Amino acid sequence: MSTFWSIWIIVITAVTIAGCTWLLFANRKIEASSEEVEDGEAPKTGHVYDGIEEYDHPLPGWWFNMYLGTVIFSVVYLVLYPGMGSYAGVLGWTQTGQWQQEVDEAEAKYAPIYEQYANMSVEELIANPDAMKMGRRLFNNNCSVCHGSDGRGSYGFPNLADSDWLYGGSAAEIKASITHGRKGAMPGWGSVIGDDGVDNVAEYVFKISGREHDAEKAVEGEKVYVTYCGSCHMPQGTGMAALGAPNLTDGVWLYGGSPSLVRHSIRNGRNGNMPAQDEMLKAEKIHLLTGYVYNLSKNQQ
Ligand code: HEC
Ligand code: HEC
Repeated sequence: MSTFWSIWIIVITAVTIAGCTWLLFANRKIEASSEEVEDGEAPKTGHVYDGIEEYDHPLPGWWFNMYLGTVIFSVVYLVLYPGMGSYAGVLGWTQTGQWQQEVDEAEAKYAPIYEQYANMSVEELIANPDAMKMGRRLFNNNCSVCHGSDGRGSYGFPNLADSDWLYGGSAAEIKASITHGRKGAMPGWGSVIGDDGVDNVAEYVFKISGREHDAEKAVEGEKVYVTYCGSCHMPQGTGMAALGAPNLTDGVWLYGGSPSLVRHSIRNGRNGNMPAQDEMLKAEKIHLLTGYVYNLSKNQQ
């Protein structure tokens, strides 16, 4: 906050509090005794309504004290906590400080549990229901936005609960995917092979995935495939885990299997991005997540 705005806020706040206090005392009246009231000698405001005169009574004591209390509270509060421009307050309290403190407390509380899980093998984790529950919570907090709360993924986000893997489904490979992230790099081929090339090779892809296809186009498509695609998707179309090139023969489609979507994948390319988690999550958490994801897919086999 710049000095100008800091002073601006301090002045407005101070003037408001001082003004409120002045208003209170300026309207304060010395208590009139009840006799005076009975005798009709108590001061009057001079307002008359249908012959009825208005007494100038003092403010009720409880109301006066409550008002004074709020003024004192605000002054004490503004001394202790931030509020007066960029003045930090005597207690030095900050939002981020409180957040950090809560994080530290939580870490101190859960650290021994994570440490215990970190020393277990993935197989042991899977056999431990408490570990899996904790893994599920971590998954829901960190992964489900993309992979779905059941891990089944959606368009462009791989299903982690099946036995089909882009980058391999061993515990070590899953851990590597989570830790370092993954970048799928499928170049767009439209400008290289032209519309006919895209059409033909798509028919060939349908052929090897055992689907209905145009046999003539597929023959042409096979030539395109051998030249441009086999190096990543392998000559048989079974994919390559090292590159995350999907198996094109298994009927599982990351980007949809309709003819137009497959042609779109081939023409324009695809670039899925799994963000690396090693900066956001500690190794113990990634270990637990590895067990959780491994278990998700194991249940499907
Ligand atoms: C921002 C979205 C996003 C988030 C968050 C995310 N992922 Fe991913 N993840 C992806 C995408 C996209 C891919 C596929 C990358 C590709 O197409 O090459 C992927 C791939 C993976 C793979 C490899 C799958 C395979 O078939 O080989 C694993 C394992 C994985 N994610 C686990 C996780 C876990 C565990 C978390 C939570 C810590 C997580 N992901 C969080 C988007 C995300
Ligand atoms: C440089 C390696 C590479 C080459 C060459 C390549 N691909 Fe790919 N392809 C990939 C990768 C990696 C992906 C996954 C992209 C992602 O995860 O975002 C992919 C994805 C695809 C998909 C989407 C699959 C799905 O599950 O939705 C199709 C279809 C495809 N490629 C067909 C082809 C065809 C046809 C060719 C040849 C014209 C080809 N690819 C050439 C690496 C390659």
